[in-house]
Amino acid sequence: MRKLSDAPGPARPGPHPLWTRAFHGFNLLVLLLMAASGLEIYNANPVFGGRAGATLPAWLTLGGWLAGGRDWHFGVMGLYAANLGLWIGLLLHRRQRRLADGGDLGTLRHSVSPPRRRLASHRITYTLMLVVLAFSLITGLAMYKPAQLWWLVSLFAFAEPAGHSSWQTLRVCHLATIPAIALLLVAHVGLSWRVGGLRLLRRMAL
Ligand code: HEM
Repeated sequence: MRKLSDAPGPARPGPHPLWTRAFHGFNLLVLLLMAASGLEIYNANPVFGGRAGATLPAWLTLGGWLAGGRDWHFGVMGLYAANLGLWIGLLLHRRQRRLADGGDLGTLRHSVSPPRRRLASHRITYTLMLVVLAFSLITGLAMYKPAQLWWLVSLFAFAEPAGHSSWQTLRVCHLATIPAIALLLVAHVGLSWRVGGLRLLRRMAL
């Protein structure tokens, strides 16, 4: 008779399906291309301080010069928008419990269970990431087609009384998505690491 100690342990989950890993990696690549080409555009005329303002090192940028950065940015933006749409569509279609709701905030406030708190934090991070990515799309589109999307541009006129045009406010809002996404990515990787360590990261990456 087989002893209890011989019984097989809980099956270790294998890697995620190939298409999930490919989609995940592709999303990351497209995001990096958009961020690096955006920083090239920023370097040509920094939002804060005009041409004498703080610029970023060349290794963080893509395109080599303003027109090159714009070519990359506008060339990849269709892919970025399609990926984001597909991602949100899949989440809604599959009705997976990935997105945060009020219950997650309650868990963070009241629960003392570390796994439940981690899961709630991860859902909130994931949801915020989608919101910030969608915000970069909305502000980007408003700058790309300001004449057609004048109504969208006008939503950013709130700082005009303080002397900032809606264009300048849009630029600052669009640029601000970079540090916001970077912070959320760090939180996303950190939380995944705490839940499953290198094994979980490998399941998604390899
Ligand atoms: C479909 C989505 C997007 C569209 C339509 C878009 C469009 C634009 C446009 C029209 C500009 C101004 C170009 C110029 O003044 O010459 C711009 C600049 C920029 N974009 Fe995007 N963008 C998108 C997504 C993103 C994403 C995802 C990021 C980064 C995560 C990003 C980062 C930047 C940065 C840093 C700048 C320079 C800001 C400045 O100095 O004015 N963009 N984008």
